[in-house]
Amino acid sequence: MNLILFGAPGVGKGTQSALLVEKLDMRHISTGDLFRNAIKNETELGKKAQSYMDAGNLVPDEIVIGMVEEVFENLNGQSFILDGFPRTTAQAEALEKLLDKVGISLDKVISLKVPQDELVSRLTGRRVCKGCGAVYHIESKPPKQEGVCDLCGEGVIQREDDKEEVIKTRLENYENSTRPVKEFYQNLGKFTEVDGTGSTEEVFARVQQNLG
Ligand code: AP5
Repeated sequence: MNLILFGAPGVGKGTQSALLVEKLDMRHISTGDLFRNAIKNETELGKKAQSYMDAGNLVPDEIVIGMVEEVFENLNGQSFILDGFPRTTAQAEALEKLLDKVGISLDKVISLKVPQDELVSRLTGRRVCKGCGAVYHIESKPPKQEGVCDLCGEGVIQREDDKEEVIKTRLENYENSTRPVKEFYQNLGKFTEVDGTGSTEEVFARVQQNLG
């Protein structure tokens, strides 16, 4: 099963991907995580991506597509969940070509849906571990000890792009550049929508039901 988890910033793509990976033997490919790792490791890719990410803008297509191509070269037949890619129609078209080239087919695009005000509170309240990247929320999933990761003991911080002024730009970019990707996959007959409200477990049950 090869999937795309689609939806606005903060809708729960990363959270649901982690649950799916725990249950099924799948590779989680998050372009946001790949960029954050590149920034942490101070690579050329990270230097190119950082200013776009900090401002809440999309990294240019050619950079993202090149990075995803490299990941697919090393997939070794493993099933995947794409999270945060494709985010533009050009990226969706490039992915189709890439999948064709490597002889893999995409099974489904699951789009999570949550009202805008909930997206903002999920994003402003999100905290992440700067060591292992574990994701928390100050209300719905706080770490046991404030500011400390339950899993690795490192510090838990707010992402630069989870500040309110940057969130506004990210949500605008989603509306203008990413939402049109929905039509691309609807035309391929692969797009389904899942209610992303309620607890993490409730959403996961809906995702699993959708996957059959
Ligand atoms: P990226 O990291 O992909 O950000 P995003 O798409 O904005 O998604 P998020 O990580 O913000 O949210 P999510 O949907 O994964 O939500 P999560 O599960 O964490 O990208 C960052 C940047 O990288 C982009 O802005 C861009 O600059 C660049 N980039 C990446 N890919 C790119 C591409 N393809 N093209 C160009 N540029 C690209 O949940 C959010 C919070 O809500 C958490 O605190 C979580 O605990 C909480 N939560 C989750 N589910 C629930 C629930 N059911 N109930 C209550 N709280 C919940």
